[in-house]
Amino acid sequence: MAMRDAQARVTRLRDYRAPDFLIDRTELHFDLRPGETLVRATLALRANPGHPVRARELRLHGEGLQLRELALDGRALAPAEYSYSDGELVIPDVPAVFELSSTVAIHPEANTSLEGLYQSRGLYCTQCEAEGFRKITFYLDRPDVLSEFTTTIEADQGAFPVLLSNGNPVAEGAAPGGRHWVTWHDPFQKPAYLFALVAGDLACMEDSFTTASGRNVALRIYVEPKDLDKLDHAMYSLKQAMAWDERRFGLEYDLDIFMIVAVDDFNMGAMENKGLNIFNTSCVLAHPETTTDLGFQRVEAVVAHEYFHNWSGNRVTCRDWFQLSLKEGFTVFRDSEFSADMGSRTIKRVEDVNLLRTAQFAEDAGPTAHPVQPDAYQEISNFYTVTIYEKGAEVVRMIHTLLGPDAFRRGCDLYFERHDGAAVTIEDFVAAMAEASGRDFSQFMGWYRQAGTPRVAVRGHYDAGAQTYRLDFTQSCPPTPECADKAPFQIPIRLGLVGRNGDLPLHVSGLAEGATDIVFELTESTQSLVFERVGEAPIPSLLRGFSAPVKLAFDYDRDELVQLLRRDSDGFNRWEAGNRLAVGILQELIADDLAGRPLALDARLVEAYRELLTDPALDPALVAHILTLPGEAYLSELAEIIEVEAIHRARQFARRELAQRLRPEFEALYTGNRSAESYRANAEQIARRSLHNLALAYLLQLEVPELIDRAWQQFDQADNMTDTNAALVSLLNNPAPQAQDHAREALGRYYARWQSESLVVNQWFQMQAWCVLPGGLERVRALLAHPAFDLRNPNKVRSVIGAFSAGNPVNFHRADGAGYAFLVEQVLTLDAMNPQIAARLLTPLTRWRKYPQARAGAMRAALEQVLVVPELSKDSFEIASKALR
Ligand code: BES
Ligand code: ZN
Repeated sequence: MAMRDAQARVTRLRDYRAPDFLIDRTELHFDLRPGETLVRATLALRANPGHPVRARELRLHGEGLQLRELALDGRALAPAEYSYSDGELVIPDVPAVFELSSTVAIHPEANTSLEGLYQSRGLYCTQCEAEGFRKITFYLDRPDVLSEFTTTIEADQGAFPVLLSNGNPVAEGAAPGGRHWVTWHDPFQKPAYLFALVAGDLACMEDSFTTASGRNVALRIYVEPKDLDKLDHAMYSLKQAMAWDERRFGLEYDLDIFMIVAVDDFNMGAMENKGLNIFNTSCVLAHPETTTDLGFQRVEAVVAHEYFHNWSGNRVTCRDWFQLSLKEGFTVFRDSEFSADMGSRTIKRVEDVNLLRTAQFAEDAGPTAHPVQPDAYQEISNFYTVTIYEKGAEVVRMIHTLLGPDAFRRGCDLYFERHDGAAVTIEDFVAAMAEASGRDFSQFMGWYRQAGTPRVAVRGHYDAGAQTYRLDFTQSCPPTPECADKAPFQIPIRLGLVGRNGDLPLHVSGLAEGATDIVFELTESTQSLVFERVGEAPIPSLLRGFSAPVKLAFDYDRDELVQLLRRDSDGFNRWEAGNRLAVGILQELIADDLAGRPLALDARLVEAYRELLTDPALDPALVAHILTLPGEAYLSELAEIIEVEAIHRARQFARRELAQRLRPEFEALYTGNRSAESYRANAEQIARRSLHNLALAYLLQLEVPELIDRAWQQFDQADNMTDTNAALVSLLNNPAPQAQDHAREALGRYYARWQSESLVVNQWFQMQAWCVLPGGLERVRALLAHPAFDLRNPNKVRSVIGAFSAGNPVNFHRADGAGYAFLVEQVLTLDAMNPQIAARLLTPLTRWRKYPQARAGAMRAALEQVLVVPELSKDSFEIASKALR
């Protein structure tokens, strides 16, 4: 097939067909040897009894495999009896029930795609989701083919003492030539994407967990020996997650062992292989000296997420990859609820909504927009997106909001019970929710099938004479690539009314008296809601807890926002009021900057911040979030046309102005939140550190010698990575020569101290790649030449190239287009090594339509340069071509 056709081949949901053959049992034998690994697979196949006409032609997936032997029911097949090309092994005539055995040679040491079987720092490991298993052996590599796996691994005993796969170890022994082998058996049927193998010289932390029904589960986390001291937090998080899933969802673990292995080279964060999760070291290792608070929280969330997949993904899996959000959206909802219960619910919500609004809303408004249940893809690896994950989780959250916790739980119970051991669809999940609640979800399915972020505009009318308050709602949704005309969505809008002294009791027909909070369901294009007995003109508090992933427009004036910020009973909406106030003010500054008018900061923001800074009764974590101005990414998402420099200047101006006018308050906050106790990553300490470092960040907007010295002292004396990094970032971004001298010294010391800790070096790279001072591109080029940089390691790529292109807009979008040319150059080098990572790096360029003409043209040209490369991967081809369509 011609290259272009292969690149652009489309898989469609509507073409789904059940498999022609099933694989009841899969026996694998791996002979791991330097230079060449031999994989022998014995498959117990039978024609799918569900098909009226029995299939005769067997087609198995296989990519880059060197076929050595192929036998059917013990008889070797001659080359004329099969063909292997275009990623498929075809045997034209097979019986109804038979055994197929193949031996293939593969080359893990040369595998830089990090998909299939590969090596990471000498360790063998696998990554099979979504379609990596076909790089290991010939197989029906699709999630609706479930099989019972038995895996034997043989390797050199000295170099690879630890040999792991899914399930339980059932046999082991020595082999000639200093080799040994272990056989694993997984009693649960599973699709190939959940297969895993690990071989290496690993140390392990052991613990155990007793399930609610009294079974004992051995817990093991395997790492390189040097990292054994960084496992306490992951192990603690795992046990918390196991107990939480029992309490909240009634779900117990099902094998006798649960293992996690940490690897340094990994495309994603972690992977939920049955009984043998494989983790990026960045998502499992944590130690106060080397890991920030954010890092600790990430470990907790990812450990829980992958563990939760044991039910939402593994026991009940996906029929096809169009159902990806069935497991990912649901599991993100589950891990987000877990984190909310472990720390602060409001804060977790604010963080999730920030991610959704910056990354997902932008995706939904661009050329790669797709529904939560996509209907077509070229390369499935490109569909592990914020839409599938974060919007998918929001959709599950809306079901939870509509049903309430009890009916939602009944729906989950029904889903897991009914579909245990099966490969199902999003429709099956929703059907269980519908049955458990007696509700009709037909309109709700629009959330899964239509892309785009709905806009909900609301107007309020107070009638003082009648004492009524009416809210008029209108919804609309902009066109997206797959659909121009959208049917109205079913939108749950949690809301209340706020008066002079806080929440007003709500009187609406059909609602219990005395409630201050209702869930209004907007289902039509326009709809109204009337409240009775409203004694004063209220301020509506709309979309409490961000009850639906929409853009809500209401014409609040700034005084009303200040009142909501003070009085709203909903913590999320207090933050939201502060956020809206700041957005409005920043947008005005951006407009003034563009028009060449002098900038002046609205005093109401200063006064609102002053109140927050000095009220000791407030939740410190929430205060830290409210005092953080909306980021450049969010302001860009909101803008019609992204004026990179104006956005940056306006925000910098506001930060500096706030620092100047509130300097004593920030200084008090800084000293008042210094911590004396030894480091713990608990919610209370994290909140304190975030206030402390927020104060530092504001104060370092000023080029004041004592303040710069204070940052240096913090760097010098910190006993934890959160404080160290905060100090270093504030020095790096302060243009005063004194700060730059300190920054240079600090960078040198930091590297000297931590050069052997790869994850710390990544942070060192990232902070520099994010530096907003002029000259960013030159600094980043220098980082690429640094001996610690390695293009084959995705974490390094993300911390330099990814951090720069997605997290440093003023430097990446410099006017001469050199940032774009740089990115293209890196993407093209990477594309030949690791297409998944290369394609992801293209994301910032896909937003070209939102930039002013000159930049848009340069970004477009950069994408065209990618597209002309003849041997471009499917991954990058799909992203670049969609971005240009
Ligand atoms: N199943 C995915 C990991 C994955 C996806 C591996 C695609 C290979 C290809 C895993 O469950 C996951 O979603 N991991 C997330 C982290 C999670 C906390 C959202 C990740 O890796 O970023
Ligand atoms: Zn997942």
